[in-house]
Amino acid sequence: MKITVIGAGNMGGALVKGWAKAGLSTNLTVTARTQETLDRLVEACPGITTMLDNKQATKGADVVLLAVKPWLVEQVIEEIKPELADKLLISVAANVRHERINVYAMPNIAAEFGESMTFIEEAEQANVAADLFGKLGQSKIVPQRLMDAGMMMAGCGIAYVMRFLRAMMEGGVEMGFYPDEAKAIAMQTMQGAVTMLRQTGLHPEAAIDKVTTPGGITIKGLNELDHAAFNSAVIRCLKAGLSNNK
Ligand SMILES: NC(=O)c1ccc[n+]([C@@H]2O[C@H](COP(=O)([O-])OP(=O)(O)OC[C@H]3O[C@@H](n4cnc5c(N)ncnc54)[C@H](OP(=O)(O)O)[C@@H]3O)[C@@H](O)[C@H]2O)c1
Repeated sequence: MKITVIGAGNMGGALVKGWAKAGLSTNLTVTARTQETLDRLVEACPGITTMLDNKQATKGADVVLLAVKPWLVEQVIEEIKPELADKLLISVAANVRHERINVYAMPNIAAEFGESMTFIEEAEQANVAADLFGKLGQSKIVPQRLMDAGMMMAGCGIAYVMRFLRAMMEGGVEMGFYPDEAKAIAMQTMQGAVTMLRQTGLHPEAAIDKVTTPGGITIKGLNELDHAAFNSAVIRCLKAGLSNNK
């Protein structure tokens, strides 16, 4: 299957690098606004085809994926329309809808490392997209009403997880670790927590019980998080970007 990715920035670039690592380099054609971006990408992913002409790049494709900024979607579709015919057009642009787009997808930047959590809106050809994004991590087909929630939890969620990690690092530095050590400790702790949940299937609260001695020190820290309204802050953070803010 020939895939053309239009736009090779943070997201488009991550998708291309992820698919290249999955062995799809020779199936990939990529465009960008500037040659510099394409040169950088070819260096990272030898074997891909690059060009500056979106229309030309669309010609030989089975799937065309739009990864330009939301305000450019309409203009790019106009440009490639003559070559689109019955090709599958997938868009990852946040909050942009267009009658010509067949499938809306919301991956995250960890696609580059095969660890994306991608949401795909229910549609006739959603399965084709789910297979493609499945090569870049986990993909989940959801009804339209859950796309925003998926975007906040996973697309933007990576940034929120980074903030938690940074907060742990800063605490670690205040207690005496060098920043690099604090970062490594925070990452390993986070990875341990995720692995534990994956392998046991435990609810997080049940996992918390396993490290919380009555009258001990873990509960003191947990209660501090509650006093600071940590749960509420996270929930509000996730809901802040919903278009209807419900
Ligand atoms: N970043 C994320 O984590 C994320 C997550 C999910 C979805 N998205 C969606 O992904 C889309 C792209 O976001 P981004 O963060 O990757 O933006 P970005 O880093 O600014 O990348 C945009 C890319 O589009 C290229 N471009 C601009 N005009 C073009 C044109 N006319 N034809 C072809 N390519 C063109 C740019 O080329 P140059 O590099 O040469 O300027 C650049 O490579 C957005 O719609 C966003 O909503 C992003």
